[in-house]
Order: sequence, then C-alpha cells, then structure tokens
Amino acid sequence: MKIESLKIGNLTLGFPVIQAALSGYSDVSMRQIARKHGANFTLCEVMLDQFVLNVGKGKKSRLYLNAQEEEHPVGAQLMGTEPEMFVSAAKKMVETGFDLIDLNFACPVKKVLGRGRGGFFMSKPAEAVEIIDRVRSALPDSVPLTMKLRKGFDDSAESEDAFFEILEKGFRKGIAAVTLHGRTVRQKYLGESDWNFVSRVKKRIGNRILLGSGDLFSAETVRQRMTETGVDGVALARGAIGNPWLFGQIRALLEGKPLPPPPALHEQRETIQLHYDLSEAFYGPVRAAAEMRKFGVYYSRLHPDHELVRADFVASKTRSQWQLVLEKWYHV
Ligand SMILES: Cc1cc2nc3c(=O)[nH]c(=O)nc-3n(C[C@H](O)[C@H](O)[C@H](O)COP(=O)(O)O)c2cc1C
Repeated sequence: MKIESLKIGNLTLGFPVIQAALSGYSDVSMRQIARKHGANFTLCEVMLDQFVLNVGKGKKSRLYLNAQEEEHPVGAQLMGTEPEMFVSAAKKMVETGFDLIDLNFACPVKKVLGRGRGGFFMSKPAEAVEIIDRVRSALPDSVPLTMKLRKGFDDSAESEDAFFEILEKGFRKGIAAVTLHGRTVRQKYLGESDWNFVSRVKKRIGNRILLGSGDLFSAETVRQRMTETGVDGVALARGAIGNPWLFGQIRALLEGKPLPPPPALHEQRETIQLHYDLSEAFYGPVRAAAEMRKFGVYYSRLHPDHELVRADFVASKTRSQWQLVLEKWYHV
C-alpha cells in the first residue's frame, strides 16, 4: 500500500497516523513520546471553553494551555456550549501557539451531555454548524479548524441525518478535516466501532479529509481499515497508551515492509524511562509519580510477566520506587 501524505489545511503532516485526543492521557509527555515514535501530529486532551477563558497565566495554564516548542505541529481540542465562548476560547488557543483547533462534538460522558456539550451536538446540527461557522470566521486562515464526530447521537434515522448535516455543512463552512469515531454517542464504548459507516462517509465526501477512529489496537488492523475504507488517515487512541511502538509498526506495514518485532525489554525500558523524565520535568516529582502509575498499567501489558509488573508500577509512589521496578523487571 502506498502511503499518502496527510495534509490538513495548510499543515503538511506526512505520515497519516496521528495521536488522538485522550483526556487524562495525551498530555505533553505522551505527545512527545508519540512524536518520537513517528507521529507527526498530536492532539491535546480536550479543554473546556470556560477553562480556557478563565485560566490565568499560572501553573494550570502552563500545564494545559501550552504548546511546547518542540512539539509543533500540535492541535488543541475545544468543548463548550455557547458559540461566543467557543470563539473566544479558540482565539486564545491560537494565541497560545496551537497550530490547529479541533471542535469536540463527540464526547459521550453523561455530565458533558447534561451540560449541552460534546456529543450533545450530534443531535443539534443547526447549533453545531453555527459554532463551526462562527469559530471558522474568527480564526486566522492559516489555522485549520477540524472536528471530532461520532457516527450519530443514537442509531435512529434522524440521528444519521443530523450527522450528515453537520458533516456536509461543516465542510462547506470551512472544516479542513473530520475525525470520525464509528460509535454513536449513546453507545459510549460498547460494541464495535462501525468502520462500514466510516467507509460510506469517505465515499460520500470524496477528496475531503477524513480520519477514522475506533478499535485501532494493532498495525495489521490499521492497515486493513485504511485499505478497506480509503480514509486519509487514522487517529490512534487507546491503542497508543503504553504502546507508542504501534506508530512505527504501522509505518512499516504501510511502506510494505515486514512487521517489526515487538519492542525488546531494553527498548521498553528506555521509552518508559523517557516518558517518566518528560512527565517529571513537566509536572514535578509528586504529580509525575501519580500520572505515571496510569501509564505503567498500560506499559506493563507488553511485558511477559505483565500482571506482576503492573502491580509493581501501581504500587510505586516515588521516582526511586519506579526506578526499582524498572531495574527489577526490565533489567537486561
Ligand atoms: C480515556 C479516554 C479519553 C478520551 N478523551 C478524548 C478527548 O479528550 N477528545 C476526543 O475527541 N476523544 C477522546 N477519546 C476518544 C478517542 O480519541 C477515540 O476516538 C476513541 O477512544 C476510539 O478509538 P479507540 O477505540 O482506538 O480507543 C477518549 C477516549 C478514551 C478511552
């Protein structure tokens, strides 16, 4: 399969496999790890419009509203309710240095829907289109505006109509690319992601840019999904947590090369160590130890003694305890 270079607006990204937005995970350390393993574009965790607008210049702003120099191009993702707030927050994100703004119309979390945010818009096409229009008009032409959609709010025919209304009008208003997760909002994460729907959408939109998302856990699956659906790219989400090697494995398959062997223990150790260092440089020692426990759970899955390794990562409370875990299990 020939790899097509991915272009979103004026951003030429090349390798068409990006790091998806992942709340609680795609922080600066995970994004840099993804880049080092071959992702040319990454998205931050979703941010609320009111957070973006109210945050000062202090620590919280540094932690979230922050595009690091070494990670361009990097996208920010925005979630909110009112068009004016979306506009002001998107402008602030651009001033902060983000290269692309992604609108989240997909989040299925109950509290989010209850507040009229995220996936709520899948059932409110006119409101979604208004937000797209207002934000697009307010941003500099050089900054692409994209959106994240699910296949509908639920499985009804009205829901599908609403999806296509947001999609078609969105492109007409200047959306540069859509990432589509092939589950409904109601479905949350149950059942399988519907790649037949992704395929239908790609056929319908022709040369406009579509990235697929959903259940991408192996390089072979990604290659197959890309070939079968004709999507322009894919966003790796859960599959990349604790497994950034997936980017390189996909690259090899897309270039027609054999699948590289799974990472050896010393490679795993190097990446886990670097991830910890990046996290600590950013959050400081206390928070980094807590953040990294989450990632340790995922990294451990590649280890032959994964249950024991996982338990040790989870029990690790400090940098020195973490080092002992690496020494014990990743010693070569
Ligand atoms: C823990 C978690 C956090 C997520 N956070 C976001 C987010 O902030 N923004 C977003 O658009 N999607 C978010 N997603 C959805 C993913 O980007 C992706 O679309 C979804 O997980 C399907 O892909 P996967 O099955 O390959 O994980 C999140 C998913 C998970 C599991």
